[in-house]
Amino acid sequence: MRTRMIAGNWKMNTTLSEATNLAESLTSISSPETEVVIFPPFISLGTVQNTVKNSQIKLGAQTIHHEPKGAYTGEISGPMLKSVGCDYVLIGHSERRQYFHEDNALLNQKIRAAISHQLIPILCVGESLAERENNITLDVIKTQILEALAAIPYTNMVIAYEPVWAIGTGKVASPEQAQEVHAFIRKILSDHYDKMSAEKIRILYGGSVTPQNSHSLFEKPDIDGALVGGASLSAESFINIIQTHS
Ligand code: 13P
Repeated sequence: MRTRMIAGNWKMNTTLSEATNLAESLTSISSPETEVVIFPPFISLGTVQNTVKNSQIKLGAQTIHHEPKGAYTGEISGPMLKSVGCDYVLIGHSERRQYFHEDNALLNQKIRAAISHQLIPILCVGESLAERENNITLDVIKTQILEALAAIPYTNMVIAYEPVWAIGTGKVASPEQAQEVHAFIRKILSDHYDKMSAEKIRILYGGSVTPQNSHSLFEKPDIDGALVGGASLSAESFINIIQTHS
C-alpha cells in the first residue's frame, strides 16, 4: 500500500513574507494518511522550515546542483538543502528542461547527488503537446525514465508524470489518459528494477490539478497523489486537494 503524497510546487512565486504566511496557513493540516510536501523558492526554505517544524508538512527543493560545493555561481547543493531541512528534491521539472536546458544525462547526475545526500528525488517526466499528437508519448516517457535512472540502483524515489500541455493551462489530463501513462511508468520501473520495487514507488500526476478534478484522478489505481502548481499557492485549494477522498 502506497501512502498518498500531495506536493505543492510554488515555482518562482512568493516573497519571503508571502512564503512564511502561506506556510503558516498550512500548519493546521492534519491528514495522517497523506504525506504533504511543499517546495518553496530557495530563499524561503530556512524560514519555512522553522514555520512548519511542528506540523506534518515536509520540505523539498525545486532543483539541486549535482556537485556538493564549489565555484558554481548561483547554484544550490545537496548539503545546503539538507541544512535547511529538505527531505525531497524535484528533478527535471519540464520548466527546468525547457528553460534551463537540463537533459536526461544531467538529470541522472542530479539524481545521484540527491541520493548521496539523503534527499529523496522526485523525477518529473512528461510529453509535449506535439509529442502526444504524434503518438509518441510512451516512447518519450520511456526514454526520459531510462536515461535519468541509468545505472542507478533501486532506492526510495518518486516519479511525477506532468504532461507539458497540462501545466498551467487549465487542461488537465483525463483520469484515463493519466492512468494509462502511470501504469506504463510502473511497468518500465518493474522491468528496470523488479516488480516489488516498482510497486513501492509513488507516481504523482501534475498539470492543472484542482480540488474539482483531484477526486477522479485519485480514484485510479496507479495515481498515488499530485504535484500541484498554481492551486498550491492558495492554502484553501491546496488543503482541499489534500482532503480529497477517493
Ligand atoms: P499547475 O498545477 O499550475 O498546472 O503546475 C503543475 C506543475 O508544474 C507542478 O510542478
